Amino acid sequence: MSQKVLFLYGTETNTAERAANHLVKQLKFSLKDVTIEGPLAGNKMTDFEEIKKYDAVLIATSSYGDGDAPSCYDKFFEQLHREVKNATSSGSKPLSGLQHAVLGFGSTSYETFMNCPRITDKLFGELGSRRMQQRIEIDEIGEETEEELIDKFEVGISKCLNSLKQNKGKKEACTWDKPDGEILDKFYIIEEGGGEKKGGPGMVGVLAILAVFAGIYFMKMKKEAEGEE
Ligand SMILES: Cc1cc2nc3c(=O)[nH]c(=O)nc-3n(C[C@H](O)[C@H](O)[C@H](O)COP(=O)(O)O)c2cc1C
Repeated sequence: MSQKVLFLYGTETNTAERAANHLVKQLKFSLKDVTIEGPLAGNKMTDFEEIKKYDAVLIATSSYGDGDAPSCYDKFFEQLHREVKNATSSGSKPLSGLQHAVLGFGSTSYETFMNCPRITDKLFGELGSRRMQQRIEIDEIGEETEEELIDKFEVGISKCLNSLKQNKGKKEACTWDKPDGEILDKFYIIEEGGGEKKGGPGMVGVLAILAVFAGIYFMKMKKEAEGEE
C-alpha cells in the first residue's frame, strides 16, 4: 500500500509556501509508492485525529513577532501545544507511528531565531512522532543560500520518504535540538486568555499594588489627623 505524506506550511510573506510548492512538485518525481497531499496551510489541518492517518508529515514554516507562528499557522501551533499538554497529562504518545521533518525559515537578526520551526519539531517528537531528518534552518541573512538549503532538504527527505516503511519504529535521526535548541517557550498561548504573553503583574500582583497604595493613603490620613489634634 502506498505511503501517505502530508505537507503543511506556515507563512506570512509566502517564502515557506513557495518552497513547499516547489518541494512537492520535485518530490513527486523522485518518490516511489508515496503520495503527497498539500501543501496546505497549517490552520487547514488542526484535527490531529486526521494527522494520525498519515505516515509522514513535512512542515515548512517561518517565525514572526516574538518567535510566534505566522498567521496561517497559529491555530495549528496552538493545537499542537494543546495536544502535547493532554498527552503529557495522560502519559500517551498519540503520534507514535508517524514520522516528520521540519524546514524552518527565519532571520538571525531576531533574538527568537527559528522559534516556531524549532518548537514545532520538538513538540511533534514529544507526541511520539519519529524525526526522520535533522531540521534545516534557513537564515535569510546566512551564508548558505535559501536555494542550496531547500535542495539539501529535498535530497535528504526524498531518501527518507522512500524508506518510510523500513524506518518506521526506528530511532529518530537526531534530537530536536540539532542544529540548535534555543527556544522561547510558548505554552502561554493555550492558557486562559491565551495569545497575550504573560509578563504583567497578574491578579495577585494587582492586589498587592492596591494594598500598598491603600497603606500609603491610610498612613497619610493618620498623619493629617494627628497634625490636626
Ligand atoms: C516583523 C517580523 C518579525 C520576524 N520575527 C522573526 C522571529 O521571531 N524569528 C525569526 O527567525 N525570524 C523572524 N522574522 C524573519 C522571517 O521569519 C523571515 O523573513 C522568513 O524568511 C519569512 O518567511 P515567510 O515569508 O514564509 O513568512 C521576522 C520578520 C518580520 C518582518
